[in-house]
Amino acid sequence: MAAGLFGSYRVLLAPMAGVSDAAFRTLCIEQGADLTYTEMVSAKGLSYANEKTRHLLELAEGERRVGVQLFGHEPATMASQAAWVEDVLGDKLACIDVNMGCPARKIVTKGDGSALMKDPVLAETIVSAIRESVSCKVTAKFRRGWGEGDETAPEFAKRLEQAGVDAVTVHGRFATQMYKGRSDRGAIARVKGAVTVPVVGNGDVRTAQDALDLVADTGCDAVMVARGAQGNPWIFSQVKSAFDGCEPPEAPSARDRIEMARRHARLLNARDPRSVVRMRKHAMWYVAGLPDASRARGLINDCSTLDEFERLFDRIVQHVEALAERDEL
Ligand SMILES: Cc1cc2nc3c(=O)[nH]c(=O)nc-3n(C[C@H](O)[C@H](O)[C@H](O)COP(=O)(O)O)c2cc1C
Repeated sequence: MAAGLFGSYRVLLAPMAGVSDAAFRTLCIEQGADLTYTEMVSAKGLSYANEKTRHLLELAEGERRVGVQLFGHEPATMASQAAWVEDVLGDKLACIDVNMGCPARKIVTKGDGSALMKDPVLAETIVSAIRESVSCKVTAKFRRGWGEGDETAPEFAKRLEQAGVDAVTVHGRFATQMYKGRSDRGAIARVKGAVTVPVVGNGDVRTAQDALDLVADTGCDAVMVARGAQGNPWIFSQVKSAFDGCEPPEAPSARDRIEMARRHARLLNARDPRSVVRMRKHAMWYVAGLPDASRARGLINDCSTLDEFERLFDRIVQHVEALAERDEL
């Protein structure tokens, strides 16, 4: 069983750009996520008081704690914006996490995200600058290394630990791999062996068993789930009960999936009706595996408002219930 990040967080929702907004975080917390992160937030954008960037920091009603992930490469900007975030969120801020793992071209060409793995001295400077500017925990999330075959993560983690980081999250792929191949658990284990701060294991946790295996194989203190939570907030309750050695909760039915999608759409709409279009990709994930999912996917793409989603969800529920009555499910 995972020891826990900062004592108590065992299963975390990963930062995911375009996905981990306040609505999705709410559903994951309800299902048992111990800690959730914002999408990555541009430190530069915050420094320009960009409204869209600031919007990413808004919490859901009743959201008590969040990790805020910043990306950037200028130590002074990162530090001043981390301090600003701490001022705004106060004790709701669990940690400032530094993105050192994003491999997207538009990020790394600016020297941000996983490009920092190529410049460990700069990465250290960023961590110490933030460390000096905030009183909350400071964490960093990175990959196995930059170029395939060149595993720098253990040494990188050590340097960041010396620079004052309170915990690290490791995704066991190289940056140049993007999402190809498997996340390497050995790399996470080697980071765990290299540092004394807590290590969060990340990569390819799709089931409760994956989480148990990740902890058993690496000794990591907590697990972080990204794609496995898409359309599947239940993964958090499943992992939690596995960690507690309890019977797994019942798998969600087709109806549960659609009702979760409906709540998701309502939460998005309540915050900002314009953000309901975000529901298209979530709805695709919720219906994956349901009967006639491909037809549903076509209809999802035509939805732009909450009303349209609600009507579609009604139709899907009626359809799966009719199939169930005819014993075709
Ligand atoms: C749609 C999407 C958006 C992501 N955005 C971020 C991000 O903003 N910050 C970050 O550190 N990682 C981001 N990631 C990477 C994930 O946090 C995670 O490290 C990676 O997906 C591996 O975990 P998984 O196998 O559980 O998906 C993103 C991944 C996906 C699929």
